[in-house]
Amino acid sequence: MQEEPLIEADHLLAESAGQGGIRRVFVKTYGCQMNVYDSERMADALAGEGYRTTESPDDADLLLLNTCHIREKAAEKVYSELGRIRQLKEARAAEGRTLMVGVAGCVAQAEGQEIIRRAPIVDLVIGPQTYHRLPQAIARARSGEKVVETEYAIEDKFDHLPAPDTKIVAARGVTAFLTVQEGCDKFCTFCVVPYTRGSEVSRPVSRIVDEARRLVAGGVREITLLGQNVNAWHGVGDDGREWGLGELLYRLAQMDGLERLRYTTSHPRDMDDGLIAAHRDLEKLMPYLHLPVQSGSDNVLKAMNRRHTSEDYLRLIDRIRQARPDIALSGDFIVGFPGETEDDFEATLRLVDTVRYAQAFSFKYSPRPGTPGADRSDHVPEDVKSRRLERLQSMLRSHQQQFAEQCVGTVMDILLEKPGRKEGQLIGRSPWLQPVIVDAKSSQIGDIVRVRITRAGTNSLFADHWQDIAPIETVRSSTT
Ligand code: SAH
Ligand code: SF4
Ligand code: F3S
Repeated sequence: MQEEPLIEADHLLAESAGQGGIRRVFVKTYGCQMNVYDSERMADALAGEGYRTTESPDDADLLLLNTCHIREKAAEKVYSELGRIRQLKEARAAEGRTLMVGVAGCVAQAEGQEIIRRAPIVDLVIGPQTYHRLPQAIARARSGEKVVETEYAIEDKFDHLPAPDTKIVAARGVTAFLTVQEGCDKFCTFCVVPYTRGSEVSRPVSRIVDEARRLVAGGVREITLLGQNVNAWHGVGDDGREWGLGELLYRLAQMDGLERLRYTTSHPRDMDDGLIAAHRDLEKLMPYLHLPVQSGSDNVLKAMNRRHTSEDYLRLIDRIRQARPDIALSGDFIVGFPGETEDDFEATLRLVDTVRYAQAFSFKYSPRPGTPGADRSDHVPEDVKSRRLERLQSMLRSHQQQFAEQCVGTVMDILLEKPGRKEGQLIGRSPWLQPVIVDAKSSQIGDIVRVRITRAGTNSLFADHWQDIAPIETVRSSTT
């Protein structure tokens, strides 16, 4: 998994202009996995209009930034990227060619018109709820209009976005994201997501199953269900009853060819018995759970409007670990929320020491305009935030390293995903989401193979060939 939920991935697509010259588009993705998914769906929408892929942003004549607004640095990154793009656009204009620039994602939704004011080179601003209108928006921008599409659409974008094409899916690899739920009604007082993504919407079971089938037909072996509050997903199932995420997972686990299931991100309040039972029963559901707690202090949790205590969280973790003893936990933490005292922070360290996360992401609180946290008068000084973050991260790092080291000598099944850096090596994923490097042929990409872990590096594990390896039952017990 990436260093933090904010990731940058480049998605390259090209636009073919039929009989004439080739037009190209470059999509750069910031932010969470939902943005990665959305970038792919925008690519699918453009593919339906005749767009094709290319390798280089330099020869793109449409550039799309799919942005994130979660912390200040995230939005600032976009503005500095737009500064660099301005030079590219000017250089292009000097050659008598045009470069169209679009901003999508959560900064687009939050800032709207302001983006065009601050960066007049931008031709098109489109919010996450209107991606199905992207082809028309591009056509309008091409005719010279400055387009801002940030109204929440009445129609559901998922009903109007084209389904992924099997050939395109195959080119993207053996793992895929599938958004099942979008938006958030929780309104944690630090967070912009309810404002940028709107209120919670769940996609229906039949649509999710259809999309999963297409992914599997394109060679996908592992699907991660996505949602800002994925475990709040609910929808009418095959039997006419309202299902929760647990039932959806049971349904997907029946699909031949789909070998691994994951989901992210979950809220502690929405982990119901059905979902915990799915972890107990489903071999295909990987024993890894991202369950952010943000803080270990009840005062801070209350001020954050998380609507649970640290005790509730710890009890929940006990129940989950009883259901699936080898489950690894991952979490998110914010240090320096307004009013956080040294004692509050110590409570976070205590919680971390109790849970022992296999993986974690931690951030200094960043005031987001329009959120209740930003209006408070008791902000924590930057140097205090930095000191706390350093202490927290050093504890989290040591737990993560211990978790990796515990894996050495154990046997596990890994999904081979992509070529490694060295010739003759592939990178696979452990059930616990760790990258595992092993000697293997590229024809084996997509295979699930049994390996023995020989060494733990800082961010990945190294493994041996899998011949003569013990049966799967020993895998679970040897890693708990
Ligand atoms: N829906 C998820 C969180 C999505 S945002 C959940 O409820 O857990 C991803 C992470 O970014 C959050 O878990 C939080 O740790 C961090 N984050 C969100 N807003 C932030 C802010 N204003 N400052 C610092 N970190 C923030
Ligand atoms: Fe943000 Fe809270 Fe919603 Fe997560 S649950 S997206 S942190 S408001
Ligand atoms: Fe960022 Fe929006 Fe995701 S703010 S974290 S891209 S939901």
